[in-house]
Amino acid sequence: MLRGEVTVNGKAVKELGTKADPNQDHIKVRGKLISPAGTREKRYFLINKLRGYLSSAADPKNRPLVAHLLPPSARRGLHPVGRLDFNTEGLLLLTNDGEFTRHITAAKSRIPKVYLAKVKGMPPDKAVERLRRGIAIDDERKVRAEVRMLRESKTNAWFEVILHEGRNQQVRRMFDAIGHSVIKLVRTRIGNLEEKNLKPGRWRKLNEREVKTLKGPHQTRIATKRNIQSKTRQRQTKTTTRRRREGGKRV
Ligand code: URA
Repeated sequence: MLRGEVTVNGKAVKELGTKADPNQDHIKVRGKLISPAGTREKRYFLINKLRGYLSSAADPKNRPLVAHLLPPSARRGLHPVGRLDFNTEGLLLLTNDGEFTRHITAAKSRIPKVYLAKVKGMPPDKAVERLRRGIAIDDERKVRAEVRMLRESKTNAWFEVILHEGRNQQVRRMFDAIGHSVIKLVRTRIGNLEEKNLKPGRWRKLNEREVKTLKGPHQTRIATKRNIQSKTRQRQTKTTTRRRREGGKRV
């Protein structure tokens, strides 16, 4: 300000504490117009986070930030929607819309987040069942997850984990609690938002429909292949029953 980089209605303002109203005055900082709150264009991005990036808007230790995966022109004013650990990979939203962030991260929204977890060793079924029923992580109240074993080798097992709440490092702490620590963790879905074509480290804008869906009524159920198949089966059964009934009437 003292350098005359701020102008109000075309005049340089150097006096600290000078008042101006962005709703009425034309305020520029280094030639850039300051938009009144609420009129700023809302922007929504989806990135495929790499390991070794911090889900934070700033870092005193100067580690790479998730916003650095976007070009400088796009990343201005963005913050990550929730957190993925430094070493977690996968889908993460970035936006400048605080309300959107509150909605997606609020426990009461119960927007499911789906992860692929590779764990050390092969947890016995009983231990996995504890994750489903609810398990205490540290001294906090119990947390649970939908957990499905995908495959196993001699040394590792892979699980699909669906969380409906987002406690700090929840997946890692849950598997730690059964003695099988997570070696690799990838978020593959946020609500019904899934992206198979976004390569690690790449990003894209969300389209209007995607933003609307995420903002909309809570998506407590995930459209997984299994429940799509089961819905299709239910629909087919209903159609067959109806046809039989109609056929019956005609006879
Ligand atoms: N659970 C974790 O343990 N880590 C993440 O980054 C996200 C969910």
